[in-house]
Amino acid sequence: MYNPIHNNLIIGKKLIYLPSCHSTNDIAAELVLNGLAEEGTVVITDNQVGGRGQRGTKWLSEPSQNLTFSVILRPKFLPVAEQFLISQMVALAIYDYFSFYTNQVKIKWPNDIYISSKKVSGTLIENAVQGYGISSSIVGIGININQTRFETARSTSLAEALGTTLNLQSEFEKLGGLLDAGYLRLKTMKQNQVIRDLYLKGLHGYQNSVKFNYLNERVAGVVTGIENSGRLLVKLEGKEGIYDFGLKEIEWVWDE
Ligand code: BTN
Repeated sequence: MYNPIHNNLIIGKKLIYLPSCHSTNDIAAELVLNGLAEEGTVVITDNQVGGRGQRGTKWLSEPSQNLTFSVILRPKFLPVAEQFLISQMVALAIYDYFSFYTNQVKIKWPNDIYISSKKVSGTLIENAVQGYGISSSIVGIGININQTRFETARSTSLAEALGTTLNLQSEFEKLGGLLDAGYLRLKTMKQNQVIRDLYLKGLHGYQNSVKFNYLNERVAGVVTGIENSGRLLVKLEGKEGIYDFGLKEIEWVWDE
Protein backbone atom coordinates (compact mmCIF):
# COMPACT_ATOMS: atom_id res chain seq x y z
CA MET A 1 0.00 0.00 0.00
CA TYR A 2 1.26 3.49 -0.83
CA ASN A 3 0.01 6.98 -0.13
CA PRO A 4 0.16 10.05 -2.40
CA ILE A 5 2.95 12.59 -1.87
CA HIS A 6 0.93 15.64 -0.85
CA ASN A 7 3.93 17.96 -0.49
CA ASN A 8 4.93 17.60 -4.12
CA LEU A 9 3.76 20.04 -6.77
CA ILE A 10 3.20 17.62 -9.66
CA ILE A 11 4.50 14.08 -9.26
CA GLY A 12 2.67 11.66 -6.98
CA LYS A 13 -0.07 14.04 -5.78
CA LYS A 14 -2.41 11.65 -7.51
CA LEU A 15 -1.60 8.00 -6.95
CA ILE A 16 -3.11 4.77 -8.19
CA TYR A 17 -2.10 1.81 -6.05
CA LEU A 18 -2.59 -1.68 -7.38
CA PRO A 19 -1.75 -4.63 -5.08
CA SER A 20 -0.76 -6.57 -8.20
CA CYS A 21 -0.58 -5.81 -11.93
CA HIS A 22 1.06 -6.85 -15.17
CA SER A 23 3.15 -3.74 -15.83
CA THR A 24 2.65 -0.26 -14.35
CA ASN A 25 3.80 1.20 -17.70
CA ASP A 26 0.95 -0.65 -19.43
CA ILE A 27 -1.62 0.58 -16.92
CA ALA A 28 -0.29 4.14 -17.27
CA ALA A 29 -0.50 3.84 -21.08
CA GLU A 30 -4.16 2.78 -20.82
CA LEU A 31 -4.93 5.80 -18.64
CA VAL A 32 -3.27 8.11 -21.18
CA LEU A 33 -5.14 6.45 -24.04
CA ASN A 34 -8.46 6.90 -22.26
CA GLY A 35 -7.73 10.54 -21.45
CA LEU A 36 -7.82 9.81 -17.73
CA ALA A 37 -4.27 10.77 -16.87
CA GLU A 38 -3.60 13.96 -15.01
CA GLU A 39 0.03 15.05 -15.26
CA GLY A 40 2.06 13.63 -12.38
CA THR A 41 -0.19 10.63 -11.76
CA VAL A 42 1.78 7.69 -10.36
CA VAL A 43 0.76 4.08 -10.92
CA ILE A 44 2.46 1.90 -8.30
CA THR A 45 2.22 -1.77 -7.41
CA ASP A 46 3.51 -4.21 -4.83
CA ASN A 47 3.57 -7.11 -7.25
CA GLN A 48 4.43 -6.47 -10.88
CA VAL A 49 4.16 -9.79 -12.68
CA GLY A 50 4.95 -8.69 -16.25
CA GLY A 51 7.52 -5.95 -15.72
CA ARG A 52 9.11 -4.73 -18.93
CA GLY A 53 12.70 -3.57 -19.32
CA GLN A 54 14.58 -1.81 -22.08
CA ARG A 55 15.02 -3.47 -25.48
CA GLY A 56 12.32 -6.07 -24.87
CA THR A 57 13.83 -7.48 -21.67
CA LYS A 58 11.88 -8.43 -18.53
CA TRP A 59 12.10 -6.57 -15.24
CA LEU A 60 11.86 -9.02 -12.37
CA SER A 61 11.01 -7.82 -8.90
CA GLU A 62 10.05 -9.86 -5.82
CA PRO A 63 6.61 -8.90 -4.43
CA SER A 64 6.61 -6.19 -1.71
CA GLN A 65 10.40 -5.82 -1.73
CA ASN A 66 11.05 -3.03 -4.19
CA LEU A 67 9.66 0.10 -5.83
CA THR A 68 7.98 -0.50 -9.18
CA PHE A 69 6.02 2.48 -10.48
CA SER A 70 5.28 4.67 -13.48
CA VAL A 71 4.84 8.42 -13.64
CA ILE A 72 2.69 10.05 -16.29
CA LEU A 73 4.10 13.33 -17.60
CA ARG A 74 2.81 15.67 -20.27
CA PRO A 75 5.94 17.53 -21.37
CA LYS A 76 4.34 19.31 -24.34
CA PHE A 77 6.85 22.12 -23.84
CA LEU A 78 9.74 19.82 -24.76
CA PRO A 79 10.65 19.55 -28.48
CA VAL A 80 10.99 15.96 -29.68
CA ALA A 81 14.69 16.58 -30.41
CA GLU A 82 15.20 17.29 -26.70
CA GLN A 83 13.39 14.23 -25.35
CA PHE A 84 16.57 12.72 -23.93
CA LEU A 85 16.36 15.45 -21.26
CA ILE A 86 13.54 13.46 -19.61
CA SER A 87 15.88 10.47 -19.35
CA GLN A 88 18.65 12.66 -17.97
CA MET A 89 16.39 14.35 -15.44
CA VAL A 90 15.03 11.00 -14.20
CA ALA A 91 18.47 9.35 -14.05
CA LEU A 92 19.77 12.34 -12.12
CA ALA A 93 16.91 12.22 -9.58
CA ILE A 94 17.55 8.49 -8.98
CA TYR A 95 21.30 9.10 -8.81
CA ASP A 96 20.75 11.85 -6.21
CA TYR A 97 18.43 9.56 -4.26
CA PHE A 98 21.07 6.82 -3.96
CA SER A 99 23.86 9.36 -3.36
CA PHE A 100 22.09 10.26 -0.15
CA TYR A 101 23.12 6.78 1.10
CA THR A 102 26.38 5.96 -0.68
CA ASN A 103 29.09 7.54 -2.80
CA GLN A 104 29.47 4.38 -4.93
CA VAL A 105 26.69 5.41 -7.34
CA LYS A 106 27.08 5.79 -11.11
CA ILE A 107 24.71 6.48 -13.96
CA LYS A 108 25.24 3.96 -16.70
CA TRP A 109 24.23 5.56 -19.98
CA PRO A 110 21.49 5.98 -20.85
CA ASN A 111 19.66 5.69 -17.54
CA ASP A 112 20.59 2.66 -15.45
CA ILE A 113 21.90 3.24 -11.97
CA TYR A 114 24.68 1.15 -10.51
CA ILE A 115 26.09 0.82 -7.03
CA SER A 116 29.64 -0.57 -7.04
CA SER A 117 29.30 -2.12 -10.52
CA LYS A 118 25.91 -3.74 -9.83
CA LYS A 119 22.60 -2.56 -11.22
CA VAL A 120 20.19 -1.22 -8.61
CA SER A 121 17.69 0.64 -10.79
CA GLY A 122 16.33 0.67 -14.33
CA THR A 123 14.05 3.06 -16.17
CA LEU A 124 11.77 2.48 -19.14
CA ILE A 125 10.56 5.73 -20.68
CA GLU A 126 7.84 5.58 -23.33
CA ASN A 127 7.08 8.84 -25.12
CA ALA A 128 4.23 9.74 -27.43
CA VAL A 129 4.90 12.50 -29.93
CA GLN A 130 2.45 15.05 -31.28
CA GLY A 131 3.75 17.55 -33.82
CA TYR A 132 7.01 18.98 -32.52
CA GLY A 133 6.30 18.22 -28.87
CA ILE A 134 5.90 15.26 -26.55
CA SER A 135 2.26 14.72 -25.69
CA SER A 136 2.91 12.15 -23.00
CA SER A 137 5.83 10.47 -21.36
CA ILE A 138 5.42 7.37 -19.24
CA VAL A 139 8.39 7.09 -16.93
CA GLY A 140 8.59 3.55 -15.55
CA ILE A 141 11.01 3.13 -12.68
CA GLY A 142 12.20 -0.02 -10.94
CA ILE A 143 14.33 0.44 -7.84
CA ASN A 144 15.68 -2.52 -5.91
CA ILE A 145 15.19 -1.64 -2.27
CA ASN A 146 14.91 -4.69 0.00
CA GLN A 147 15.37 -7.68 -2.30
CA THR A 148 18.53 -9.66 -1.56
CA ARG A 149 18.38 -12.61 -3.97
CA PHE A 150 18.74 -11.94 -7.67
CA GLU A 151 18.77 -13.95 -10.87
CA THR A 152 22.04 -12.37 -11.96
CA ALA A 153 25.22 -11.54 -10.06
CA ARG A 154 25.15 -8.08 -11.63
CA SER A 155 22.09 -6.93 -9.62
CA THR A 156 21.92 -5.44 -6.17
CA SER A 157 19.59 -3.48 -3.90
CA LEU A 158 19.90 -0.60 -1.50
CA ALA A 159 19.40 -2.99 1.44
CA GLU A 160 22.27 -5.14 0.19
CA ALA A 161 24.52 -2.08 -0.08
CA LEU A 162 23.57 -0.76 3.36
CA GLY A 163 23.03 -3.98 5.28
CA THR A 164 19.62 -2.85 6.49
CA THR A 165 16.06 -2.93 5.16
CA LEU A 166 14.10 0.22 4.42
CA ASN A 167 10.48 1.39 4.52
CA LEU A 168 9.09 1.45 0.99
CA GLN A 169 6.67 4.38 1.46
CA SER A 170 9.43 6.60 2.93
CA GLU A 171 11.80 5.70 0.09
CA PHE A 172 9.05 6.35 -2.45
CA GLU A 173 8.50 9.80 -0.90
CA LYS A 174 12.21 10.67 -0.96
CA LEU A 175 12.59 9.65 -4.58
CA GLY A 176 9.24 11.22 -5.50
CA GLY A 177 10.43 14.54 -4.03
CA LEU A 178 13.58 14.46 -6.17
CA LEU A 179 11.62 13.56 -9.31
CA ASP A 180 9.17 16.39 -8.63
CA ALA A 181 12.02 18.89 -8.18
CA GLY A 182 13.76 17.55 -11.31
CA TYR A 183 10.63 17.87 -13.42
CA LEU A 184 10.04 21.44 -12.21
CA ARG A 185 13.62 22.22 -13.21
CA LEU A 186 12.74 21.14 -16.71
CA LYS A 187 9.21 22.46 -16.97
CA THR A 188 9.26 25.71 -15.05
CA MET A 189 12.87 26.71 -14.56
CA LYS A 190 14.06 25.59 -17.99
CA GLN A 191 17.39 24.48 -16.53
CA ASN A 192 18.14 22.18 -19.44
CA GLN A 193 21.88 22.78 -19.41
CA VAL A 194 22.12 22.38 -15.63
CA ILE A 195 20.45 18.97 -15.96
CA ARG A 196 22.82 17.94 -18.77
CA ASP A 197 25.90 19.03 -16.80
CA LEU A 198 24.85 17.29 -13.57
CA TYR A 199 24.00 14.11 -15.48
CA LEU A 200 27.51 14.09 -16.98
CA LYS A 201 29.06 14.43 -13.53
CA GLY A 202 27.37 11.21 -12.40
CA LEU A 203 28.01 9.32 -15.63
CA HIS A 204 30.18 6.21 -15.62
CA GLY A 205 33.22 6.82 -17.80
CA TYR A 206 32.88 10.57 -18.12
CA GLN A 207 36.39 12.02 -18.49
CA ASN A 208 37.61 8.67 -17.26
CA SER A 209 39.02 5.67 -19.10
CA VAL A 210 36.62 2.71 -19.06
CA LYS A 211 36.20 -0.49 -21.05
CA PHE A 212 33.72 -1.22 -23.83
CA ASN A 213 32.92 -4.07 -26.17
CA TYR A 214 32.92 -2.55 -29.61
CA LEU A 215 32.72 -4.64 -32.80
CA ASN A 216 33.52 -7.78 -30.77
CA GLU A 217 36.68 -6.23 -29.40
CA ARG A 218 37.44 -5.02 -25.91
CA VAL A 219 38.52 -1.40 -26.14
CA ALA A 220 39.30 1.38 -23.70
CA GLY A 221 37.74 4.79 -24.11
CA VAL A 222 36.86 8.02 -22.39
CA VAL A 223 33.31 9.40 -22.50
CA THR A 224 33.59 13.01 -23.62
CA GLY A 225 29.91 13.97 -23.59
CA ILE A 226 26.37 13.25 -24.70
CA GLU A 227 24.68 14.70 -27.76
CA ASN A 228 21.33 16.39 -27.17
CA SER A 229 19.79 13.46 -29.06
CA GLY A 230 21.19 11.17 -26.33
CA ARG A 231 24.02 9.62 -28.34
CA LEU A 232 27.12 8.82 -26.32
CA LEU A 233 30.37 10.52 -27.37
CA VAL A 234 33.51 8.49 -26.77
CA LYS A 235 37.21 8.94 -27.52
CA LEU A 236 38.39 5.38 -28.14
CA GLU A 237 41.99 4.62 -27.29
CA GLY A 238 44.15 4.15 -30.38
CA LYS A 239 41.47 5.51 -32.72
CA GLU A 240 41.25 8.94 -34.32
CA GLY A 241 38.39 11.34 -33.54
CA ILE A 242 35.33 11.08 -31.35
CA TYR A 243 32.84 8.27 -31.97
CA ASP A 244 29.13 8.64 -31.26
CA PHE A 245 27.06 5.63 -30.26
CA GLY A 246 23.40 4.81 -30.02
CA LEU A 247 21.91 2.03 -27.89
CA LYS A 248 23.09 -1.46 -28.86
CA GLU A 249 26.09 -0.08 -30.78
CA ILE A 250 28.37 -0.38 -27.79
CA GLU A 251 28.40 -2.46 -24.62
CA TRP A 252 29.87 -1.53 -21.27
CA VAL A 253 32.37 -3.79 -19.56
CA TRP A 254 32.48 -3.31 -15.80
CA ASP A 255 35.26 -5.33 -14.18
CA GLU A 256 38.00 -7.48 -15.60
C1 BTN B 1 15.55 -1.65 -17.62
O1 BTN B 1 16.51 -1.45 -16.91
O2 BTN B 1 15.61 -2.47 -18.56
C2 BTN B 1 14.28 -0.87 -17.38
C3 BTN B 1 13.47 -1.45 -16.28
C4 BTN B 1 12.21 -0.67 -15.98
C5 BTN B 1 11.34 -1.35 -14.96
C6 BTN B 1 10.18 -0.51 -14.52
S1 BTN B 1 9.36 -1.20 -13.12
C7 BTN B 1 8.01 -0.11 -13.32
C8 BTN B 1 7.78 0.06 -14.80
N1 BTN B 1 6.87 -0.95 -15.32
C9 BTN B 1 7.47 -1.76 -16.19
O3 BTN B 1 6.91 -2.72 -16.77
N2 BTN B 1 8.75 -1.43 -16.34
C10 BTN B 1 9.09 -0.26 -15.55
